[in-house]
Amino acid sequence: MEKKTIHILSIESSCDDTSAAILENSKVLSNVVANQNIHAAYGGVVPELASRAHQQNIVPVVDQALKQADINKNDLDAIAFTQGPGLMGSLLVGTSFAKSLSIALNIPLLAINHMQAHVLAHFIDDKNQSPPPFPFLCLTISGGHTQILKVTSFKHFEILGETIDDAVGEAFDKTAKLLGLPYPGGPLIDKYAKDGDPRAFTFSKPKTKNPLDFSFSGLKTAVLYFLQKEQKLNPSFIKNRLNDICASVQFTIVNILMERIKLASELTGIKHIAIAGGVSANSEIRSTLKSMETSSGWTTYIPKFEYTTDNAAMIGIVGYFKYLNKEFDKDDIKASSSLDINQ
Ligand code: KG4
Ligand code: ZN
Repeated sequence: MEKKTIHILSIESSCDDTSAAILENSKVLSNVVANQNIHAAYGGVVPELASRAHQQNIVPVVDQALKQADINKNDLDAIAFTQGPGLMGSLLVGTSFAKSLSIALNIPLLAINHMQAHVLAHFIDDKNQSPPPFPFLCLTISGGHTQILKVTSFKHFEILGETIDDAVGEAFDKTAKLLGLPYPGGPLIDKYAKDGDPRAFTFSKPKTKNPLDFSFSGLKTAVLYFLQKEQKLNPSFIKNRLNDICASVQFTIVNILMERIKLASELTGIKHIAIAGGVSANSEIRSTLKSMETSSGWTTYIPKFEYTTDNAAMIGIVGYFKYLNKEFDKDDIKASSSLDINQ
């Protein structure tokens, strides 16, 4: 019997990006993302505004995803949506939309864990990249999370280390804010660092009780005191040395990440290393990880740019695996702002 082709509509609305994708089995037919520029002026995501923008964006974004994929909504086999973790007001928009459409079309509903989706984005069908074999290590780095995971199956994620305070994305964004850059500042630090000297300034690295844990709140404070001191001597310090400051902060962050993932590889003996999450878009992290293939004998898995920051395609791939296992959810399922990676 010929295997049925499955079409899944997936929806992601956990934070400040409204996204919808159509997957045909594990292949992405469309992946539309509407960013919310409104938060730039506030230096961070304003939950109330995010929720309102999701309400405005969700219908046109889903419409565009269907059009780009050339799929009629009546041909969909299931609807996947982000259940959590994330901002409750944002999650509720995607959750209620997905529930209503699944009832209207009478097709199954699939509730997806956002953090699992970042990791499993590596299993999206791509002719240029093969997925990592189990077990592999994944450094999940985003605006809300920083974790080193030992991934033993599509459903088992052992947390070997995680941040005890700020996420690495926050370290990038908060530093950027101190430099007067708009939110999200991570991509801008990456951009300015390209023309800077990474060794121009040094910032001390944090110590944690578990050597695989992370701590980034100290770095933010160190940068703040450093800038205050330098600006007293020269009020144009940030303007004059922006590239060097960005390169030095980024260099410190990349070192902190690499030291820990290297240790995790040594402790577990696992040499298949993946990165995931919005911060994995960072060019320095990507090139440093790639260089570890030669220096440490690793095989590395670096996601395509479009699957690093929040997107619905990653929700769709987890939805596809759940669909194959017939793990459907009832329409009384609730959004959850604080889901654990294994939930
Ligand atoms: O995964 P994501 O889109 O949202 C969360 O689930 O948190 O990650 C967003 C984070 C933001 O902190 C943003 O500044 C950071 O990813 N980011 C970057 C880069 N691109 C996005 N950080 C550093 N370098 C980049 N190129
Ligand atoms: Zn995310």
